[in-house]
Amino acid sequence: MTTANEGAELARIGPATVMGQLMRQYWIPAALSSELVHDGAPLRLTLLGEKLIAFRDNTGRVGVMDHRCPHRCASLFLGRNEANGIRCVYHGWKFDVEGKCVDMPNVPPHQDFKHKVSAKAYKVVERAGLVWVYMGVPAAAPSMPALEVLLQPDDEIGANCIQRGCNYLQALEGDIDTSHFGFLHAGHVDPDDVPEDHPIRHAVTIRTPEYHFADAPWGTQYAAYRSAGPGRTYWRFANFLFPFWTQQPQGEFAEHVHARAWVPLDDYHTMFYYLWWKGGTSGMTRPPLKGGKPIGGDGPSPEFLPNTTDWLGRWRVAANEGNDWQIDREAQRSNAIYSGIGNIHLQDQAVTESMGPITDHGFEHLAPSDQMITRTRRRLLMAARALRENGTLPPGVEHADVFRDARSGYFTTNDHRPWQEIYASQLAQSVRPPGSRCTAE
Ligand code: FES
Ligand SMILES: [Fe+2]
Repeated sequence: MTTANEGAELARIGPATVMGQLMRQYWIPAALSSELVHDGAPLRLTLLGEKLIAFRDNTGRVGVMDHRCPHRCASLFLGRNEANGIRCVYHGWKFDVEGKCVDMPNVPPHQDFKHKVSAKAYKVVERAGLVWVYMGVPAAAPSMPALEVLLQPDDEIGANCIQRGCNYLQALEGDIDTSHFGFLHAGHVDPDDVPEDHPIRHAVTIRTPEYHFADAPWGTQYAAYRSAGPGRTYWRFANFLFPFWTQQPQGEFAEHVHARAWVPLDDYHTMFYYLWWKGGTSGMTRPPLKGGKPIGGDGPSPEFLPNTTDWLGRWRVAANEGNDWQIDREAQRSNAIYSGIGNIHLQDQAVTESMGPITDHGFEHLAPSDQMITRTRRRLLMAARALRENGTLPPGVEHADVFRDARSGYFTTNDHRPWQEIYASQLAQSVRPPGSRCTAE
């Protein structure tokens, strides 16, 4: 059970909130590196409920700061991206990427106090094709999380993003709710149409998986299991990793090196970032059914709206509540597509957005299949309260290595040891990308 009050505590991420303070302990993906061009126009960013601008100066360095000029609060979005900094168009004050005021041209030299003024800038790094921001106390910036995928060279990591119109938590919970797969994504798939060795074979043959759950050094972990014939078990492992990462089970465990971030833009909008190791399986493509029949609802990438300069104008998809997520009722009626929505990511997007901007947890009736969700909420809440009340740092802040052994995916085995021993054994046998032995900086 999650009470309505706990739900609010979990969902709100502004600077003064308990969860907002937890999020500000970590490096946060803020944009794709490709969105910022040398000397280009500043980008409006909303992140953890704050209005920011980002720009890349003439030397290639990225600045991310409060959009308000510290003089009289005009927006630096209007600013001139000049050599080594951004200049406010109101009175001409100029700030470098670290926020230092480097010019105060409307003030006589003997009254100049630029060395005392700074824009509210955040620490920035670029890794894996993303711009990352640390929004906490500058002196306490942690190491980058040692997620397995982030230990690879940048050119071996794929990255993309999609905005979602709801709170981060309900979006994230879709990835740790495995039993929906056999309905939302594959309710229309007849097991007789699925080849024996097909990745979704067991998920559609037995739609009532059982689970193990546990806290893990990086957050929480579950293993869903089903019989896969005499003496054999089909396992699906997945993880929640602090503070907003998931690893989902839809890929071969042995090489499913990836991570998914559900970054709160504000309380009602989330940016989903998907990072994958190009040397493994991305889990994004599935073979056809018997006779080459396509899996209904597994259509190509969703259609994007053009990006705009609005605070929330980036990476939105065309399907949304205003057009009923483009649901095809005929496809639903005929069972060509269980949901009637033609793309797997969009199916998840539709159901989580349809819950409303922030799910009312007081209205829920959680089932045994939701224990991973309840455990994850509790783990997040306890960590956020411990930080606020005792200053206890949450997992992965002091020791970024806690993320290193988190892997998800599916496999079939006749190993009958306890589930966590099976996990350790599968991980030991898995493809560990060569960079995994490096240290994340
Ligand atoms: S408000 Fe920016 S320089 Fe005056
Ligand atoms: Fe899903």
